Amino acid sequence: RIVYVNGEYLPEDQARVSIFDRGFLFADGVYEVTSVLDGKLIDFQGHAARLERSLGELDMAAPVTMDELLAIHRDLVKLNNVEEGMVYLQITRGAAADRDFVFPDPAATPSTLVMFTQSKGLIDSAAAKTGIKVISIDDIRWGRRDIKTVQLLYPSMGKMMAKKAGVDDAWMVEDGVVTEGTSNNAYIVKGGKIITRHLGTEILHGITRAAVLKMARESQMEVEERPFTIEEAKAADEAFVTSASTFVTPVVAIDGVALGDGTPGPVARRLREIYIDESR
Ligand code: PDD
Repeated sequence: RIVYVNGEYLPEDQARVSIFDRGFLFADGVYEVTSVLDGKLIDFQGHAARLERSLGELDMAAPVTMDELLAIHRDLVKLNNVEEGMVYLQITRGAAADRDFVFPDPAATPSTLVMFTQSKGLIDSAAAKTGIKVISIDDIRWGRRDIKTVQLLYPSMGKMMAKKAGVDDAWMVEDGVVTEGTSNNAYIVKGGKIITRHLGTEILHGITRAAVLKMARESQMEVEERPFTIEEAKAADEAFVTSASTFVTPVVAIDGVALGDGTPGPVARRLREIYIDESR
């Protein structure tokens, strides 16, 4: 695989980042995951806009323009013959001479940009066919989840808790209401209405979420953006998650409680179809 590091395209085993990189020492970095379908990027502009916002919130400089970033994405997709999969991008505050909590002077310490691709079947996923099961866990992450930082230890632990419980993923709960999945946005459906948490600092503003809600409204589906409790979720007709890597994926059980008849619901299945059709 050919990867990108700070201006160079290299075989993955030749790519290097300093041990002093602040991404490594402080998780001082942001990232994006953009999906690729039929060799084409889905919603690059949305990901670029969110990246600029994440960088701005953390006073971090972009090492290249968004147009250059698009060109690198396209180069990597081509160089690695990615038909279906994703492009991962990470920008960190670079490698200062010493470990120091204070941000280094950006003029002296350039940020680090790394990018790589992953080929993966996104359309024919087992999870989409059978749906996934989730458990609920406490959301103990920091308060700026709207910034897409590389601090992913707790989401990783959440996946492990799910795995230990014999299920696929975890939904995080704060003050009794569901925030989001470990790496996706969460939705329930009740009486035909799609309910998902409103945007704020408590969740990541999913690019797939924005696209799916727009498509749902255009298809005359009712959407309500508000907090919902885990009890309300367990009593819902159906549920689903969205992300760049899973598109729309049905959720069929929460904490061992089956939703509806325990199979993917019609709204989730229809939205997945619409999303894939319109993204192609
Ligand atoms: N995760 N919420 C969280 C916490 C996420 O990590 C993600 C994405 C989303 C969905 O955002 P989007 O629709 O823009 O992908 C919501 C990516 C895919 C990841 O970490 O791999």
